Amino acid sequence: MEQIHIRLFQPQDLSSVIHINRTCLPENYPGLFFMSLYESFPKAFIVAEDIETNTLIGYVMGRVERGFSSLKGYKLTKKGHIVSIAIIEKYRRKGIATRLLEEALEGFKEYGASESFLEVRESNIEAVNLYQKIGYVEKKVLPGYYRDGEDALLFTCPL
Ligand SMILES: CC(C)(COP(=O)(O)OP(=O)(O)OC[C@H]1O[C@@H](n2cnc3c(N)ncnc32)[C@H](O)[C@@H]1OP(=O)(O)O)[C@@H](O)C(=O)NCCC(=O)NCCS
Repeated sequence: MEQIHIRLFQPQDLSSVIHINRTCLPENYPGLFFMSLYESFPKAFIVAEDIETNTLIGYVMGRVERGFSSLKGYKLTKKGHIVSIAIIEKYRRKGIATRLLEEALEGFKEYGASESFLEVRESNIEAVNLYQKIGYVEKKVLPGYYRDGEDALLFTCPL
């Protein structure tokens, strides 16, 4: 998809990203939350833009957290947490989420992270397949993680 441009989030993208988030996901956040991720980890907040229509059609955002490694025993390490990702429905299955995630993972590396992790609803087959294709593996189940009671799967991936 040549008309899809992948680039860093800019503050003027905020309302479009909030719109995509509310259209695509039940987990929604106030504007300040998006901006605080942008201010702390701008290299891990990536958007996809349709340059023919000049509209944003997807985003991924993340943050780097310090904690015990999921891959190397009890070593303290920096881990890139994928907080949210979504692509507008009509643009799905064209490799755009894959491109966004690859950019965000590069951003995590630039912040010194050596692994990445994320949570996903166990019923979200599209997202589970996406993460597995990129190299994430299921680490454990987080029972009742979501507000409606659904379990999450915790996925991790070396960087
Ligand atoms: C999950 C989501 C981000 C995937 O975006 P996308 O741009 O369509 O993903 P890609 O085109 O990069 O797909 C990469 C791989 O993911 C898997 N995948 C994506 N959509 C799928 C579907 N509908 N069914 C099965 N597997 C799917 C496939 O393995 C695919 O590779 P392939 O096309 O070579 O088979 C998108 O469906 C979405 O926005 N869903 C709603 C929001 C959401 O659930 N976010 C994740 C929360 S954890």
